[in-house]
Amino acid sequence: MRQNSNGGGTNQKRQARSRHYLMCEPTFFDVTYSINPWMDPSLPTSTERGLSQWKTLHDLLVDLGHTVELIEPVAGLLDMVYSANGATVVDGRALVARFRHEERADESAAYLDWFRVQGWEAQQAECVNEGEGDFLCAGDVILAGTGFRSEPKSHDEVREFFGKPVLGLTLVDDRYYHLDTALAVLDGDEIMYHPEAFSPESRALLAERFPDAVLVDAPDAAVFGLNAVSDGLHVIIPQQAERLPDQLRERGFEPIGVDMTELLKGGGSSKCCTLELRPRP
Ligand code: ARG
Repeated sequence: MRQNSNGGGTNQKRQARSRHYLMCEPTFFDVTYSINPWMDPSLPTSTERGLSQWKTLHDLLVDLGHTVELIEPVAGLLDMVYSANGATVVDGRALVARFRHEERADESAAYLDWFRVQGWEAQQAECVNEGEGDFLCAGDVILAGTGFRSEPKSHDEVREFFGKPVLGLTLVDDRYYHLDTALAVLDGDEIMYHPEAFSPESRALLAERFPDAVLVDAPDAAVFGLNAVSDGLHVIIPQQAERLPDQLRERGFEPIGVDMTELLKGGGSSKCCTLELRPRP
């Protein structure tokens, strides 16, 4: 594992912690329908380019010392590459997604099957719940998004299922339809987010609860700068982000830029393509 314990311009000591991720190769990637504002079926897409961008991300995670497992892509499920939506996995237990849109509904069975075959305790959510797209672990609390995809009562279901506190947040800008497009956990309970993506009440909650959060501006949010994967030291972000790399370096993180522009045509970037599998404590 690459390590750099003395990051950037602060005295903050950062340390990478090795993670366990689930990814799905975009063998069938395409944009033939639109369920978010990024998806425009009239624009050309390249499965080959999507595959090569995905592979770069995959190999980077492996090089950083993480364990990456793969789920077999299913023909016809174009969005399955965004594995973050497949489930929320905490303490060795998986709550598998129930998708809002018909186009993604069949992914649930594939994920449920994968978890069971691999020996994880897994069950499908009763409420509309789009997995780590809307549920992010920040230290001891689970941050939960709603507004576009996961329904408000899914937050109660998650609280009960994992027996952890859940902080509900409402998204108001349809470009940031999942929580993981507007907010990312950097380390423990350190987060970064784009304030304008949230309702006034949620912004107040975030400001109170996370006063030291990194605030990400509109241009960096618009290249999916918040759709980041952090291991506590390395933060994988889109290479198109402009201010964000310095903001992260100032906190002692090591930003790594990747090009995910092809997969952004489906409305996702690095985080959407990685589901973290958190083992039993
Ligand atoms: N096309 C997919 C959808 O709209 C993209 C999902 C992106 N995933 C994410 N974790 N934000 O559902």
